[in-house]
Amino acid sequence: MRITMIGTGYVGLVSGACFSDFGHEVVCVDKDAGKIERLHQNIMPIYEPGLADLVAANVKAGRLTFTTDLAEGVKNADAVFIAVGTPGRPGDGHADMKYVFAAVREVAEALTKPAVIVTKSTVPVGTGDEIERIIADVAPDKGITVASNPEFLREGAAIGDFKRPDRVVVGCEDDRSREVLRDIYRPLSLNQSAPILYTGRRTAEIIKYAANAFLAVKITFINEIADLCETVGGDVQEVARGIGLDNRIGRKFLNAGPGYGGSCFPKDTLALLQTGADNDVPLRIVEATVQVNDARKRAMGRKVIKAMGGEARGKTVGVLGLTFKPDTDDMRDAPSLAVIQALQDAGATVKAFDPEGFEQARPLLKDVEFSASAYAAAEGTDALVIVTEWDAFRALDLPRIAKSMNDPVLVDLRNIYPPEEAARAGMKLTGVGKG
Ligand code: UDX
Repeated sequence: MRITMIGTGYVGLVSGACFSDFGHEVVCVDKDAGKIERLHQNIMPIYEPGLADLVAANVKAGRLTFTTDLAEGVKNADAVFIAVGTPGRPGDGHADMKYVFAAVREVAEALTKPAVIVTKSTVPVGTGDEIERIIADVAPDKGITVASNPEFLREGAAIGDFKRPDRVVVGCEDDRSREVLRDIYRPLSLNQSAPILYTGRRTAEIIKYAANAFLAVKITFINEIADLCETVGGDVQEVARGIGLDNRIGRKFLNAGPGYGGSCFPKDTLALLQTGADNDVPLRIVEATVQVNDARKRAMGRKVIKAMGGEARGKTVGVLGLTFKPDTDDMRDAPSLAVIQALQDAGATVKAFDPEGFEQARPLLKDVEFSASAYAAAEGTDALVIVTEWDAFRALDLPRIAKSMNDPVLVDLRNIYPPEEAARAGMKLTGVGKG
């Protein structure tokens, strides 16, 4: 199959590289000439384990190319995937579709033979219909069809998720689109027996939002149970295990922490709420989730201040982990931003260390001192806070850290250190949901 990927962001680049690894011929198109030039030199625009090697191997095999020339890029395509950004619109949280629609218009104008336009970006329900209207306007007789194929990959585990998905969702309204997508995903159905779910287009569009909203609800639920554990006594990790062993609930996504962040959950829950509001369908559980999660991120700053005895003024706090989760350099809606803001507002000085996030974090955290290591971030501080659970923070020399601190207070917002280990090191530990 000949595939064109429009947009070389997280989803576009990973999907393009993986499709080419399946043996398809893939052209990745992006307007950003600098990005395409760097990709030609095998410099990735994002930090994602394994991606540079995968790209290099497929470029070498002649299956993967990059260009800024959209018309050239779509010329021979059987399928054109739209993977451009759908940022939250300031004000109403609605997904901003202008990049998607502009890309579709350009693609429809440039195509010279029948092809399927496939939305891979997360797009609100009804987008496929809107795309059909654009095609009817600019290229009615070219045999272009429209399908929805939402992507469920996680940052940091993107290649594994793409190649070994729990399922693939394909939403379309015509046989030809279904056949093209069946051929594209054939390698997955042959080797991994990943179920490929064929649905109507609107259903596929809703599945993506429903999945992300459900996961956001699950995390927020266990976070509230963590608060209860802290107040009445109980251990949220044991509660999560106790409920998660019930297969109907499941053990994954029950880690209590500082609240979810990232490029998807915050944006997609807001966009889903907006769709609900536009259609007079109140989505109260999602609405509560958004509110609880926003409040939680700020509350984590207050938790640190409480652990320091209730006063932040004149104190220094070390923060370990800035990105919204490990194995990414992504700072979008990262809990660290709210935690640090709350600490600074209360008068504390903040030092921080992150293995990959400094470049993205620097413009967002102007008054933070960036340390060269976790140990440097801890030195002389009145509290050390673990915000993101990078593997590099899982086996720190706690006795060394305790000795270097002004006051050995450890606030572990990801519950990576058992109380006994912290106690042996002479640290005063505060976790999440540990009553
Ligand atoms: C998410 C979805 O998982 C993925 O399917 C979708 O395609 C995009 O959005 P991603 O944002 O990359 O992926 O990260 P994910 O690993 O899902 O984590 C999201 C947030 O939830 C992070 O802030 C993480 O720390 C938090 N989280 C996750 C928890 O607090 N507890 C958990 O148990 C799991």
